[in-house]
Amino acid sequence: MHKIFQAIGWAIGVFVVTNVFMVAVDVPVPQTVAAQKSSKKPFTKAFPDSQKCKRCHLRVFEEWEASAQSRSILSSPFRVSLERYRETSGDKEGRMCFRCHAPSVLEYPDHTGVYIKEIESGDPRLDGVGCSQCHLIKNVDPKQHPPHPIYQLERTVFGSYKKPVENLAHQSVPTELYSQSQYCVTCHENLPGHEKLPDLLGPWQETKTQKAGKNCQSCHMPEAFGESANGERNRKISNHSFPGRFGKVRADAVKVEVKTEVKGKESEVKVTVQSLVPHNLPLPHPGWSRVELDLTILGKNLRKAYVEKRYYERVFGTKDGKATIFDFEAVKVLKENVLKPEEKRVETFTFPTPQNAPSMDVIVTMTYAPIYGPEAFVKEVEQRAALGKKDRAFKPVQIIRYKENILLKDFKKAAG
Ligand code: HEC
Ligand code: HEC
Ligand code: HEC
Ligand code: HEC
Ligand code: HEC
Repeated sequence: MHKIFQAIGWAIGVFVVTNVFMVAVDVPVPQTVAAQKSSKKPFTKAFPDSQKCKRCHLRVFEEWEASAQSRSILSSPFRVSLERYRETSGDKEGRMCFRCHAPSVLEYPDHTGVYIKEIESGDPRLDGVGCSQCHLIKNVDPKQHPPHPIYQLERTVFGSYKKPVENLAHQSVPTELYSQSQYCVTCHENLPGHEKLPDLLGPWQETKTQKAGKNCQSCHMPEAFGESANGERNRKISNHSFPGRFGKVRADAVKVEVKTEVKGKESEVKVTVQSLVPHNLPLPHPGWSRVELDLTILGKNLRKAYVEKRYYERVFGTKDGKATIFDFEAVKVLKENVLKPEEKRVETFTFPTPQNAPSMDVIVTMTYAPIYGPEAFVKEVEQRAALGKKDRAFKPVQIIRYKENILLKDFKKAAG
């Protein structure tokens, strides 16, 4: 019985399924003269749109659609900073940014103009980091810095399944690379041309996590059990929503321990932050990324008695030695205090003990701070965002929150 259904399914498949790599795609992408002249396939045949994969990989598509990677050329901060980069650097076409935000440009260099037009429209239909930008990577050249993706633009997709079920749309070839951190590092290591600046991830290869064989995928593409392609038998699958700054992995980012000591008129809060992340936290690209550690003390009637904020960040410097949030203008690092991979750090705060209060609340929060920078830049980002100030670039993202109540009258109890 089961066999018959399968046979019918397959037969129907033959009628509706067409090879994703052969069908002309209806996205109106004007071909440049150079592209027409070359013997290359048209762009949209070489890099089929993610919509083409959705038909058979609905779950993967929906997860990816919710991910940051599906918005890699869409966000207002990206559009505004791309423009600034193109205006201020010798790279008028912004190729350096596309290297990771839309890597198909590496294979189709004369497509930058098309991408720029699409991005300026504010509603790009082309994928930046879509299914084919990732799954047509056959290998990476580790000698380059960052490692360079080597594409094979045929009808073969690469992945990590040892025994993928055959299908009519594409061939599948298992490749070790897809289960290795090296694959991700291709786009997460550093900005090309800025090799003199320290890498973004920090010494991730030296971490306990990496040495224990846990790759980037194990945390950022968590495993589950389900259908890889619609209607196929359940097997091990990998989440494609790429949780990071948003999503579930955040809960496992840090552990904090808070010790409060009331010493008469002064009090002291010691916060021990243990990063569980096997790379820098935060990752210092874009240059305005920073994590805020906030101590708030509530005294009498829960009024704020004391607030102090500290930032974990990399401060970039220009040729003239000025601080800049634009890492692409940077030639050096002026200051750096990001949490190193798996680092444990103790922060000590001292402040006046709240007066006339029976107790105080000690609140420690750690958040990804919202975008900041020169006023004109931040305004422009707000103006270009569909949601204005409500865009997620302006929202702090909480990593942890800790709260305790300390009695102030009974010293022994409070200290114990
Ligand atoms: C082709 C380049 C490319 C490759 C390969 C790549 N990424 Fe990314 N990734 C990006 C870009 C670009 C963004 C930022 C998108 C945006 O927000 O504009 C991103 C975003 C992310 C985020 C979300 C960051 C956040 O702030 O929440 C995570 C997590 C992530 N990638 C993990 C991975 C992992 C794990 C791999 C390997 C399986 C990987 N990436 C491979 C380019 C890439
Ligand atoms: C080496 C690969 C790489 C290059 C080159 C690169 N980026 Fe990114 N970019 C990333 C990754 C990866 C992320 C996600 C970082 C994270 O969340 O930790 C990102 C995130 C961003 C973000 C924040 C997310 C968003 O979409 O709002 C902005 C803005 C951005 N990049 C702008 C640029 C600009 C402008 C350039 C060119 C000057 C550039 N990037 C070049 C890999 C790259
Ligand atoms: C940033 C790169 C990246 C993007 C974007 C991406 N994938 Fe993947 N994909 C991977 C990696 C890496 C694996 C293997 C993960 C592992 O084995 O840990 C994978 C695994 C898979 C698998 C097998 C496992 C499963 O969960 O079913 C399928 C099918 C797949 N991808 C399809 C797609 C489709 C369709 C899209 C677009 C909607 C897409 N991928 C987008 C990197 C990517
Ligand atoms: C006609 C349906 C169909 C279409 C369209 C389709 N796929 Fe698949 N794909 C499958 C099937 C079936 C499998 C095997 C799943 C399994 O083994 O459980 C698969 C497997 C995969 C795998 C896993 C391969 C491996 O070796 O790990 C990847 C990656 C993948 N597809 C990517 C894509 C991408 C990218 C697109 C769009 C360009 C796409 N697929 C379009 C049916 C399709
Ligand atoms: C042990 C789990 C783990 C592994 C392995 C891991 N990460 Fe992460 N990563 C995290 C956690 C947790 C966060 C979220 C931090 C937070 O939100 O506070 C994160 C955040 C990120 C972010 C977005 C946040 C930011 O600070 O901009 C990116 C991008 C990322 N990781 C990429 C990678 C890459 C690339 C690798 C492989 C070299 C990797 N990660 C390996 C746990 C892991």
